[in-house]
Amino acid sequence: MANVVVVGAQWGDEGKGKIVDWLSLRADIVARFQGGHNAGHTLVIDGKVYKLSALPSGVVRGGKISVVGNGVVLDPWALLNEIDGIRKQGVDITADNLRIAENTTLILPLHSELDGIREAAAGKGKIGTTGRGIGPAYEDKIGRRAIRVSDLANLGSLEAKIDRLLAHHNALRKGLGVEAYDGEKLYNQLVELAPKILPYMDCVWDLLDKAKRSGKRILFEGAQGTMLDIDHGTYPYVTSSNTVASQAATGTGMGPNSLDYVLAIAKAYTTRVGEGPFPTELNDDIGQRIGERGHEFGTVTGRQRRCGWFDAVMVRQAMKTSGVTGVALTKLDVLDGLEEVKVCIGYELDGKAIERFPASMGAQARVKPVYKSFEGWSGKTEGARSWDELPAQAVKYVRQIEQLIETPVSMLSTSPERDDTILMKDPFED
Ligand code: GDP
Ligand code: IMO
Ligand code: MG
Repeated sequence: MANVVVVGAQWGDEGKGKIVDWLSLRADIVARFQGGHNAGHTLVIDGKVYKLSALPSGVVRGGKISVVGNGVVLDPWALLNEIDGIRKQGVDITADNLRIAENTTLILPLHSELDGIREAAAGKGKIGTTGRGIGPAYEDKIGRRAIRVSDLANLGSLEAKIDRLLAHHNALRKGLGVEAYDGEKLYNQLVELAPKILPYMDCVWDLLDKAKRSGKRILFEGAQGTMLDIDHGTYPYVTSSNTVASQAATGTGMGPNSLDYVLAIAKAYTTRVGEGPFPTELNDDIGQRIGERGHEFGTVTGRQRRCGWFDAVMVRQAMKTSGVTGVALTKLDVLDGLEEVKVCIGYELDGKAIERFPASMGAQARVKPVYKSFEGWSGKTEGARSWDELPAQAVKYVRQIEQLIETPVSMLSTSPERDDTILMKDPFED
C-alpha cells in the first residue's frame, strides 16, 4: 500500500491538478500540505472545467476525503467562496468530506493588503506575487504571532492574539504610511467567520495516522513547483513555502516514512509567471506559439505565462531535491507540429560550462543555456491514450528527457481532459 506525493518540477502550472484528479480515483484521501490560494489547479472532466485554488483537487470526485494540512496558509473567506462556486457546479462539499487542520495559519485581509502595498512599493524590484497575502501570512506564522484555525474555537483569547498581531503590523503599516489596522473590526470579522469554518476543523495528523493504519491510501497534493521553493528555488523570486516533497510530511503531521512514491509533474516545455530568472525563455514567435497552443494564462491572476524550452538541468535538480520516484510529463501535445524542439542540457556561466543551476541571484540571471536540438513530429500526440499512438519522434523526445533528468517517466498527459492520460507505471502499486 503506497502513499503518493505530487509536486511540481518547474515554476508551477505543470498540470498538477489534472494529474491529482486522475490519480484520486486510486486514493482515499487527498491532502494539500503547503501554499494557499495562490495555487490555481484546472481540471477538465467531460468538457466541464473546474478551477480550484484552496480546495484539494480530489474534491471533484465523490467519495474521497479532502484535507487542508497545517502547512497551508488558508484564507477562510476565499475558501468559503470557492466552496460556494464548486458546489454550484454540482460537487458535494460537506464537513464529512472536507477537513481542515486546527493548526493551519489563517490569511487575513491585512495580509493581502500588505502583499499589494509591498509589491507596489518595490516597483521594478517586485516579485510578481499573486497578491493573495501568502508571504505576509507565512511571515506571521514563523514570527509566532499568526491567528490559526483553532483560535476561532477560543474566542476568549482571540482579542489578546489580535493585539499581539497588530502590535507588529501597525508598526509596519506606520512605516509604510498606511493607517493602523482596526483590531475590533478584525475581531468581529473572525467571530462571524468562526461558525462557518469550525465544522471543518480537525486534528489532521491523527486523522491521517488512523487512515494510514487502516490501510487507506493518501495522495498528497503539492502546489507551485520546485523552482519556487523558498530554499531550493530562484530566491528571492519564489513563494514563501517549501514546495519540495518532504514538506508533505511536515505540512500534514505525518512522518517521512509515510511518503512512499514521489511523482513530479513536469511540462514538456517550461513556463513561469511573475518575475525572476528563466534561462530558456523564448521571446520570439516560437515562445508565442507555445503560449497560444498551451493556453498559458494564469488561473489565479490571468497573467500571461512566460514560455521557453524544457530545461533538463533544472528539472534534474528538482528530481534530487524532492527525491522523485517517477515523472508525469504533461502538455506534450503543445509541441505537436513544431519542426524542431530544443532541450537545455547544460549552462554556460561567465564562459565556463556548469551542470547545476547556481544558487546566487546574480549568477542565475547570467547563465546561458546550452541546447540539444531534436527533430519535431508532424503527427499528433494530442488526445493519445496509449503509448502506441505516439509518433516515433515524440517517443524519442520523452526517452531523451528521461535520460537527461535521470528519472523514469511514469505518466504522460496529452490534453487537459481527465482521460487523455497514459499510465506506464502506477505510483500506488509501486
Ligand atoms: P497546476 O497549477 O500544476 O495544476 O496547472 P494549471 O492547472 O495551473 O495549468 C495547467 C493547464 O494546462 C490547465 O489549464 C490544464 O487544463 C492544462 N493541461 C493539463 N495537462 C495538459 C496536457 O497534457 N495538454 C494540454 N494541452 N493541456 C493540459
Ligand atoms: P500552482 O499551484 C505558478 C508565483 C507567483 C510569483 C511567486 C510568488 O498553480 O502551480 P506568491 O503569491 O506565492 O507569493 O507569489 O510565485 N506563483 C505561482 N506560479 N503557479 C503557482 O501555483 C504559483 N503560486 C505562486 O507568480 O512569481
Ligand atoms: Mg496553476
